[in-house]
Amino acid sequence: MQSQAHSSKVWFITGAARGIGLSLARQALARGDAVAATSRTLASLQQAFGGGSERLLPLQVDLVDEASVQAAIDKTIATFGRIDFVVNNAGYGQQGTIEALSDAELRRNFDVNVFAPLHVLRHALPHLRGQRSGHVFNVASIVGFQGGYAGWGSYVASKFALAGLTETLAAELAELNIKATVVYPGPVRTGFLSKDTLVVAERSIADYTEAQASLDLHLNGLDGKQAGDPEKVAALIVQAADAAEPPVHLFAGRIATTLAEQKMDAVRQDLEAWRAASDATDFVD
Ligand SMILES: NC(=O)c1ccc[n+]([C@@H]2O[C@H](COP(=O)([O-])OP(=O)(O)OC[C@H]3O[C@@H](n4cnc5c(N)ncnc54)[C@H](OP(=O)(O)O)[C@@H]3O)[C@@H](O)[C@H]2O)c1
Repeated sequence: MQSQAHSSKVWFITGAARGIGLSLARQALARGDAVAATSRTLASLQQAFGGGSERLLPLQVDLVDEASVQAAIDKTIATFGRIDFVVNNAGYGQQGTIEALSDAELRRNFDVNVFAPLHVLRHALPHLRGQRSGHVFNVASIVGFQGGYAGWGSYVASKFALAGLTETLAAELAELNIKATVVYPGPVRTGFLSKDTLVVAERSIADYTEAQASLDLHLNGLDGKQAGDPEKVAALIVQAADAAEPPVHLFAGRIATTLAEQKMDAVRQDLEAWRAASDATDFVD
């Protein structure tokens, strides 16, 4: 894997006051880069970074409000003059079966996990395009590749959406010398599953026992025991940012790579079993 020589770069990282985003922001600062770090509250950024540094721009941003996102990007450009790495990292898990989830619960989840990254891209990409350089990282989740995860349909679908738009971005941006990578972490030991962060559906339907068991496991068995180390996931993103030929798909952790292989095998199996019938749907010209 080739690596580009590092000279000081500018990062725009959403959800940088804790978890993976905070680890990434700290690592970028530690190697001499500049970081525009967003959170819903300035207080949490101050708490996370302490006195800060001249190379840190803490930004209070409401990511679902396009004007707030635009102001944050404008301030980043006014402060640092450019953006090299855009990291759409902020996101949250919405639990609940598809039948039970309300329209409002689904839309809130998609607002943060999908439409907020789109706001960021709409206002950041003109700068990257002007530079003819840059790299977008969209932090999805292995469940946004795996699918088939009872009780997590909203979160799963939002991460599939983020993955799909990243793959398309990669195709659109290639001619402009801009890279796009979707990051698929497995479970990572952050506050993501804590009771005040994970959003549990207001309605639950008793017949869906598998979804309930999965929720219980996540809240009471997995929280605090996730295999993934946020520092190492952040380091992986930095490694990909430095790579001359970064991947479009970046899996993080053994659980992620294992589930991705299982998914690819399952898709191949379906494809092969139905290939003749599938191929037969074309016109015979
Ligand atoms: N931890 C995992 O197991 C795991 C696995 C796969 C993927 N991921 C993804 O990795 C990303 C980072 O998660 P993490 O593990 O670092 O979780 P985390 O510690 O809970 O941090 C999540 C970040 O997202 C922001 N955020 C959460 N809800 C938000 C909302 N409603 N509106 C705006 N911002 C919001 C938070 O910003 P504030 O400072 O404003 O609170 C926070 O900085 C997420 O996109 C998550 O889906 C996590």
